[in-house]
Amino acid sequence: MAEKILLTGGAGYIGSHTYVALVAAGYAVTILDNFQNANRSVIDRLEQLTGAPVSVAEADIRDATTLASLFAEHQFDAVVHFAALKAVSESVERPLDYFDVNISGLINLLRVMDAAGCRNIVFSSSATVYGVPDETPTPETAEFRAMNPYGQTKISGEQILNQLTAADDRWNVGILRYFNPAGAHDSALIGEDPRDIPNNLMPFIAKVAAGELAELQVFGDDYDTPDGTGVRDYIHVDDLAKGHVLSLAALLGDGQSHLVNLGTGEGHSVLEMVAAYRRASNRDVPYRITERRAGDVPVYVARADKAEEILGFKTERTLDEMCASSWKWIAGPHSSEDPGPEDKG
Ligand code: NAD
Ligand code: UFG
Repeated sequence: MAEKILLTGGAGYIGSHTYVALVAAGYAVTILDNFQNANRSVIDRLEQLTGAPVSVAEADIRDATTLASLFAEHQFDAVVHFAALKAVSESVERPLDYFDVNISGLINLLRVMDAAGCRNIVFSSSATVYGVPDETPTPETAEFRAMNPYGQTKISGEQILNQLTAADDRWNVGILRYFNPAGAHDSALIGEDPRDIPNNLMPFIAKVAAGELAELQVFGDDYDTPDGTGVRDYIHVDDLAKGHVLSLAALLGDGQSHLVNLGTGEGHSVLEMVAAYRRASNRDVPYRITERRAGDVPVYVARADKAEEILGFKTERTLDEMCASSWKWIAGPHSSEDPGPEDKG
């Protein structure tokens, strides 16, 4: 019988792509999402993509009663935990909300899992735990440096999980530190579609290429990088989704906990991203160099060998494919639909 997986935050950007990958790998998946940052129509599109009904619970990860009844009903074998708040600047303004959802929400989930005897979890962490790293490409051994409350919640989440496995070896934990997810599913049925002005580079460039925003502001060209602009390790969201399938297989197979970076090991500057997006969209992307953005890190690039060694994870998709799939999604019929009452941020 197919193993049963609870996917928290499964209607979101990375969660929806991971849903498709998990179903393709033969898992029976239930999505839990409160839709505070997702569009309900994502569920219809996942049904279209997989050709099967989606099991979905509209609930908050902080709601222990609903969580417990879901576990009783489905007897999950493992959880892939995406549900979190993720906007860095918002976390500086409203730290308590971030601690509540990202830390209290995690603890609540772990308590319910423990009571139900389900002790396998894949956790979404982030390169942000490295702060400004001493070394690039950055290995998993680099020290924790919180730059803002959001980063602190990811560090705390990892520490909670590590202390839990140390206290009780029945727990199996996969901690995945994502670098910069980009792109969309090739079907153009799911993708990243912030309703407000995007904070992140790729969705911002996409809206400039589409003519929805006038120009990109390039935040600084005086970093110690080849062209002076910030460098990141962009990873196709479908490659990232596959990383979750491998992590889950490792937990459910030999029960080995692991901590790995998920990136390509290659960095691209802001200006390289602009050039790649112009090629993919065949549109102009006007930009202007401005001041550095407060709190920005000059370079984030993953040491990517540990994920390959432990999980057999290797990225397959190129930067041009990230841009082409993003453009297909942005220019297609499904993006920018009215997300309804919730603010799809
Ligand atoms: P997203 O906002 O698209 O997805 C998160 C989902 O969780 C949304 O569907 C949202 O509605 C849901 N959610 C939020 N709070 C909830 C709650 N209290 N109860 C139930 N559901 C809730 O974000 P994403 O980009 O898909 O990120 C997924 C995970 O990956 C997050 O944990 C994020 O911190 C982490 N991450 C993201 C990035 C990135 O750049 N996108 C990088 C590193 C790590
Ligand atoms: N940038 C611009 N103009 C913009 C937006 C971004 O020049 O309008 C630049 C930034 O200065 C940076 C690069 O593009 O050099 C990437 O910026 P993003 O905001 O897309 O990504 P960050 O690496 O700054 O942050 C993202 C997430 C964090 C996460 C981090 C590492 O927002 O939560 O990736 O995973 F921690």
